[in-house]
Amino acid sequence: MRLVDIKDLTVSFPQTEGLVQAVRGLTLHVAPGESLGIVGESGSGKSVTCMAVLRLLREPPARIAAERLELAGVDMRKADRRQLASMRGSVAAMIFQDPMTAFDPVFTIGHQIAETIRAHRAVSKSEAMAEAEDLLARVRIKAPKAVLQSYPHQLSGGMLQRAMIAMALSSRPQILFADEPTTALDVTIQAQILQLIKEIQAEYGMGLIMVTHDLGVVAETVDRVVVMYGGRVMEEGPVQEIFDAAAHPYTQALLGSIPGRVAGRQRLTEIKGASPNPAHPPSGCPFHPRCPVAEPRCAAEVPALAPFAPARAAACWRVA
Ligand SMILES: Nc1ncnc2c1ncn2[C@@H]1O[C@H](COP(=O)(O)OP(=O)(O)OP(=O)(O)O)[C@@H](O)[C@H]1O
Ligand SMILES: [Mg+2]
Repeated sequence: MRLVDIKDLTVSFPQTEGLVQAVRGLTLHVAPGESLGIVGESGSGKSVTCMAVLRLLREPPARIAAERLELAGVDMRKADRRQLASMRGSVAAMIFQDPMTAFDPVFTIGHQIAETIRAHRAVSKSEAMAEAEDLLARVRIKAPKAVLQSYPHQLSGGMLQRAMIAMALSSRPQILFADEPTTALDVTIQAQILQLIKEIQAEYGMGLIMVTHDLGVVAETVDRVVVMYGGRVMEEGPVQEIFDAAAHPYTQALLGSIPGRVAGRQRLTEIKGASPNPAHPPSGCPFHPRCPVAEPRCAAEVPALAPFAPARAAACWRVA
């Protein structure tokens, strides 16, 4: 079974300047317990993809179409409100860049985690509170009792991020969506939080989708990576293989942009040329206007994401 199974997903938003095509025919999957990184420049459609599969986008304005959009075997296109609520609670959880958005400022952290637990399982208030304390300890918060009684604004960014992870874990999800979970934090705390996510993923046997700009983050936390550009998947494969021998010119450009490709966590630096305007995407391969090795065919026809080696695929006419 696939935990996440997306085939040919398209997400667009009608805007005055035209139809913004945020995701254009995206296919990806995650197996139970697997960790997948989604990387790509700003605006490539990473967040929209995650929100679409969790059905967190407002529709309208968002328009979602897919041949398949499944979470743990459930067709998310057909799920009604109740099913969606239960999927988001019990099957999937999401952590965001800004932990403030996950918490209500007027309630204590303990109250909010306990309420989430009680929304999923029939336990008493005191049992839920004890479990919340346990979860806070699990995300390596040193004074969990004090944090239980704190309000969100009383915690530092790193603490709040940990508390958000605890809250996400409280529903015991099969898959965790982490959308740029550490970019707001300083580098040392970033490393600690990533390590924590990785450990907890292994401990819970949970699937993970880690969305990031940062190839360093990907290298350290996931098994497999999907490289997105202009709302499409350009390349996918095991992390190490992609780092060692990227097949797609876009991925090569991304990797080339990392000075020395050492362990540091550089942001992706700019590749020459502008990223595509989602309201007026280029014909053919979205990367062709910036591609150093583009051929006439690349402007005319969209290359499909095609397997070329075990566990690897690329959407490029030059890779066969
Ligand atoms: N609600 C919306 N209405 C209109 N356009 C949107 C909406 N949400 C996203 N978009 C557009 O869809 C495209 C993809 O956005 P998305 O947020 O998925 O990018 P991203 O890859 O997550 O980028 P970042 O790395 O900056 O977070 C962008 O062009 C964005 O402007
Ligand atoms: Mg995003």
